[in-house]
Amino acid sequence: MNPVLVALDVESAAKAIELADQLRGAVGGYKIGKQLFTATGPAMVRELTSRGDRVFLDLKFHDIPNTVAGAVQSAVATGAWMVNVHASGGTVMMKAAAEAASRSAGALGRPRPLVIGVTVLTSMTDAMLQEIGVARTVMDQVVLLAQLARAAGLDGVVASPQETRAIREACGPDFQIVTPGIRPLRPFDKLKVAPSGVEGRQGSGQAADQQGTDDQARTLTPAEAISAGATYLVIGRPITGAPNPREAAERIAATLP
Ligand code: C5P
Repeated sequence: MNPVLVALDVESAAKAIELADQLRGAVGGYKIGKQLFTATGPAMVRELTSRGDRVFLDLKFHDIPNTVAGAVQSAVATGAWMVNVHASGGTVMMKAAAEAASRSAGALGRPRPLVIGVTVLTSMTDAMLQEIGVARTVMDQVVLLAQLARAAGLDGVVASPQETRAIREACGPDFQIVTPGIRPLRPFDKLKVAPSGVEGRQGSGQAADQQGTDDQARTLTPAEAISAGATYLVIGRPITGAPNPREAAERIAATLP
């Protein structure tokens, strides 16, 4: 299967549907996050799932277990193929999410969605974790939360490029790892920057363009991320901001192992 999930980070249903129609068959699915969901609601998710599309509903639920279970139940009713919750909500909350996914899917006769944990947001630094009372490094906290997510019955986690390999080693081959921060290499990068595997590469500091790093500070190419152990790649602007999104998606698919 094509592992690319396109982030539909647009403000209207019309734009999202136009992009989805352009990209259908050239990508593995679509990610609907807080911007599009808050603008268009569950109707947008249903619109795509009713066309047979796979939708990753990226709402990062984090609340008391009963509320998260209810949110997951509502997500299952939209036909979402993947949902996520914050792993820092704890084991009881994650178990409630996983159980709600199984129970609701069974009751509705739908396939159970993948339930994925968010470990530490990539905007967080070691100093920010210390500020909120977490003494571990980001990397150690990410691996700890990924192991808790697995033990609680979640199917995988979202991980930044620099964490993918450590999680794959800690959580085994069957754990799903969803990796954003993906940027295809430009010819310029090939000359200047050798691919550096799991460590990623620093942003070029150049003006953002469709093939540059934009605001993603540490990136991997699609092929590097898969080699580091990613199961799915979340890609937004390199596809959605390209002059021809379908061609950009096809070019990316052609680089994958
Ligand atoms: O446009 P770009 O490829 O940077 O889009 C990446 C998508 O993945 C965005 O929707 C962004 O919110 C999301 N994401 C991320 N980094 C994370 C988690 C999610 O970039 N750690």
